[in-house]
Amino acid sequence: MNPAIPAALARFLVPERVAIVTGGAQGIGLAAARALHDAGAEVWLLDRDLDAAQRAAATMTRAQALAVDIGDAESIEHAFDVVGGRCGRIDILVANAGASIRRPALELTLAEWNQVLAINLTGSFLCARAAAARMPAGGGAIVATASVMGLSGGGPYPNPAYHATKGALVNLTRSLAVEWAGRGIRVNAVAPTWTRTASSARSVPRRSGRSSP
Ligand SMILES: NC(=O)c1ccc[n+]([C@@H]2O[C@H](COP(=O)([O-])OP(=O)(O)OC[C@H]3O[C@@H](n4cnc5c(N)ncnc54)[C@H](O)[C@@H]3O)[C@@H](O)[C@H]2O)c1
Repeated sequence: MNPAIPAALARFLVPERVAIVTGGAQGIGLAAARALHDAGAEVWLLDRDLDAAQRAAATMTRAQALAVDIGDAESIEHAFDVVGGRCGRIDILVANAGASIRRPALELTLAEWNQVLAINLTGSFLCARAAAARMPAGGGAIVATASVMGLSGGGPYPNPAYHATKGALVNLTRSLAVEWAGRGIRVNAVAPTWTRTASSARSVPRRSGRSSP
């Protein structure tokens, strides 16, 4: 570890820890993966876009890429099995992959609603469970990427499934934090506001030369 790092900051290092970041090929997930990698962790980028995940992993010295569909229970279990099998443990999970289908409530189909639930809520829950089951006796850490929309209930655009699932993810985080506190597993959520990434650029067109927010 870098001896130039002050003692106070050294407390935040995670050497030898095994970290999984879902949706880690780009955007917020990749930023989280880089931070964990720079802090000493071995990082696994789990993403449905394997090519992008491999390109991202190649920019780090201790990173691996693995294909996963967070909307699919079997795919999640298989991916966590691979990481657990190769590393013998999982210490850190960033449950970050998310979906958004921005459509007014009266137009959103049941299939679209279910698709967003499957990734944002069920997928995050299954990832948290798969990680917790493979954490060492001393515990570990889970961070879910929620959204400011999960706290406010919405913004300027109708997006009911996204808002509902991000709100539920915040409360699921509280529930798991309480349930697993005794096992030393810390469970937290972050609630970003608009962040310029591929998906936000797609859903928020540039206006007057600047991208929203
Ligand atoms: N960008 C924002 O403004 C913003 C704001 C608040 C919350 N968030 C949340 O942050 C998270 C990341 O968003 P982002 O803007 O970085 O997105 P992004 O589009 O830049 O990256 C998302 C990554 O997740 C992967 N992914 C998507 N669905 C997947 C699935 N089913 N299985 C596996 N991988 C999948 C994609 O391939 C991609 O690599 C999401 O949960 C999003 O809801 C984003």
